[in-house]
This record gives sequence, C-alpha cells and structure tokens, in this order.
Amino acid sequence: MSQSDKDSLLVNKIAAGVLTAGLVLWGANRLADIFVSSEAPKEPAIALAALPNAAPMAVVASGPESIIPLLVGADVAKGQAFVAQQCAACHTVNSGGANGVGPNLYGVVGAKMFSAPGFSFSSAAKAKAGGTWTYDNLNQWLAAPDKFVPGTAMSYAGIHNTQTRADVVAYLRTLSASPVPLPTPAQVKAAQQAATPAPAASAAPAAPAKPSIDTLFATASEAKGQAVFAQQCAACHTITKGGADGVGPNLYGIVGRKAFSAPGYDYSSAVKAKAGQPWTADSLSAWLQDPAAYAPGTRMGYAGLHNDQTRADVILYLNKNSDSPAKLP
Ligand code: HEC
Ligand code: HEC
Repeated sequence: MSQSDKDSLLVNKIAAGVLTAGLVLWGANRLADIFVSSEAPKEPAIALAALPNAAPMAVVASGPESIIPLLVGADVAKGQAFVAQQCAACHTVNSGGANGVGPNLYGVVGAKMFSAPGFSFSSAAKAKAGGTWTYDNLNQWLAAPDKFVPGTAMSYAGIHNTQTRADVVAYLRTLSASPVPLPTPAQVKAAQQAATPAPAASAAPAAPAKPSIDTLFATASEAKGQAVFAQQCAACHTITKGGADGVGPNLYGIVGRKAFSAPGYDYSSAVKAKAGQPWTADSLSAWLQDPAAYAPGTRMGYAGLHNDQTRADVILYLNKNSDSPAKLP
C-alpha cells in the first residue's frame, strides 16, 4: 500500500471513528465537565472585540488567556503544522476546499460565525451564527469548543496552550486573499492590562507540573476508566487480546509493554525516538495527559486527559487488560 493510500485510509478511519464517536464524545465532554472541578460559569460571556478596532473587552471571568498579545509574534509555520496534525481530519483549509466532517476554513478569521455555505451546522452552532470570528471569539472557541458553544458538533477537546492557540489563529489568518489586520499595539496593550490583575480565580496556567497520580489508584474506578476509554479512545484503539491495530496500535497489555513497539504498527518517527522503555503508570500518565508535549509531532491526535483521577481510572482499566497486570502504585 502506498503512503498516500495509507493516509487516505487513515483519514477514512478517522472519519468513520468520528462519526460513530461523535455522539459519545459529546457525552464524554459532559462527563469531563463533571469530573473536572466546575470552576467556570456554564456559558462564558462573549468578548465583543471587533476586529479592526477592539472595543474595551468584556473580560470573561474565567475565560482562556488572551491570544491578542501573542499574535504578532506567533509562529505561523507551527500553527500550520498543528492544524495539519489535529484539525485536517475534519477540515480542509484551501480556497474552495470541500466541507468534511467540519466546514472548510479558508477565510474564517473575520468571517461570520457558523455560516459557511453548504455546511450543515449543528443547531447549537446555528444559534450563534451571525456573530463574527474575531480573534477573541476564535480564542474562546479553540480553547474549549464545547464551552463556547455547548452542544457543538465539533468533537475536539480544545487547545489548552495559549501560544499554540495564537500560532493556530495566526495561521488561519493567512488563509485569505486579504487577511484581516493583526492587533494594533494599542489593542495588545488593552488586552495585557485586562489580564494583569488576574484574580486568584483565573486559574493561572500552572506550569504543567507533571503531577504524580500514584495516590489516586487507591480510589480509581475500572468501570469509569472503561467508560472513558469507550468514549475517547476506542475510535482509534482496540484493547482486546490480539485486536487489530486501528488508527492507533492495539493496547492489550500496554502497561509494562515496551513503549511504541507493537509489532506491525507503523509509528510516527516522533514516538519512535521514544521507543524502548516499558510503559509505567507514571510515563503513561504523562503521555495521556498531553501526548503532543510528551512526543512533539506524534500522530495521536488527542488533546489529552487533563483530570488526574480520570487518568488513574483509565490506566487502571488498561492494566486490567493484560495477561499479567502490573502492580500499580
Ligand atoms: C472531529 C472533527 C473536528 C476536529 C478534529 C476539528 N473540528 Fe473544527 N469543526 C468541526 C465541526 C463538526 C464544526 C461545526 C460545528 C457545529 O456545527 O457545531 C467545526 C467548526 C469549526 C470552526 C467554525 C467554522 C465556521 O464556519 O464558523 C472553526 C473555526 C474550526 N472548526 C476550527 C478548528 C480547528 C482550528 C481545529 C484544530 C485545532 C478543529 N476545528 C478541529 C469538526 C472538527
Ligand atoms: C484520534 C486517534 C486516537 C485517539 C482518540 C487516541 N489515540 Fe492513542 N494513539 C493513536 C496513535 C496514532 C498512536 C501512535 C502514535 C504515533 O505513532 O505517533 C497512539 C498511541 C498510543 C499509546 C502508545 C502505544 C504503544 O504501543 O506504546 C497509548 C498508550 C495510547 N495511544 C493510549 C490512548 C488512550 C488511553 C486514549 C484515550 C484516552 C487514546 N490513546 C486516544 C491514536 C489515538
């Protein structure tokens, strides 16, 4: 099979997975909301910065960190690579490109929201149509689609890193015959000022301090782990003994197995560089928390399991699916 055949097969598999997983993922997001301590009010107010001259921003209590100060210096190439990796399964970006699982994204920055012709948006998204994709709106959408548009059909957990969101939006901006202007120095200043007296509530992005989940296995639930796996992983992974590789490799016996070494599975070079050490609870936790940070460039298009207890649940479940389960902490 040629690489491009494989690639289109991969896309098909992802698309099929997405179709079947879409609904459950939607449910999973709900579930995640329950697991994740509910700090945020359920619907964020929409910041009303118009693109060319941002009015004073209605700052959202616990919205994502602003990307306005980062846009001018953002790395368009990184944004492009990220979109190719995490968005392209559902979106084309070329001028006149076909709609896929999601709408074509050419010219989306500055466009009317959820109005791409010929695409059938969810009713949740339609309720927001007519607003404009300002930098602020895109920032909130990409940080947490399901918070910005509860019930959206975009099954994507969100881009949690502010610099990455800036890179992605800076790239999306270039997809236009006449890109909208970048924020002016005055707008940058306003955004910075709005951000400075951040009250304690605005969960300052604590440096991803690789928390140990060792203490959480005592309270972990195999049933919960199994449910999360079915909702968030099964589109790409089988877990039964001898199960076929899918978009990702079969995961039977993964705890204690040599990392990225399933025979017959074609790993990305990003993870091949990390192959060899057996998976421990700790290394699996780090990988599942943020695959792209653990192995930059990995093909596992999954934003990460951010809740510590949920990771422990999932790892406990993975460990049960083994001939010889490892001793967890
Ligand atoms: C699993 C498929 C999927 C993935 C992955 C995905 N999207 Fe989407 N996206 C959608 C769907 C479906 C919609 C329409 C939302 C609705 O109708 O509720 C959408 C809508 C959008 C919109 C609004 C478009 C418009 O016309 O208003 C933008 C912008 C967007 N996505 C950007 C992205 C970016 C950037 C990424 C990657 C970081 C991404 N999406 C990843 C499926 C996806
Ligand atoms: C969109 C598809 C996709 C989803 C969803 C996904 N994975 Fe993956 N996974 C992959 C791919 C692809 C790889 C191989 C990575 C590479 O080659 O860069 C992988 C690799 C892995 C590995 C390493 C396997 C090995 O042989 O060492 C583990 C463990 C893993 N995934 C667990 C999970 C879990 C648990 C979930 C759900 C919480 C999940 N994955 C969700 C696609 C996915």
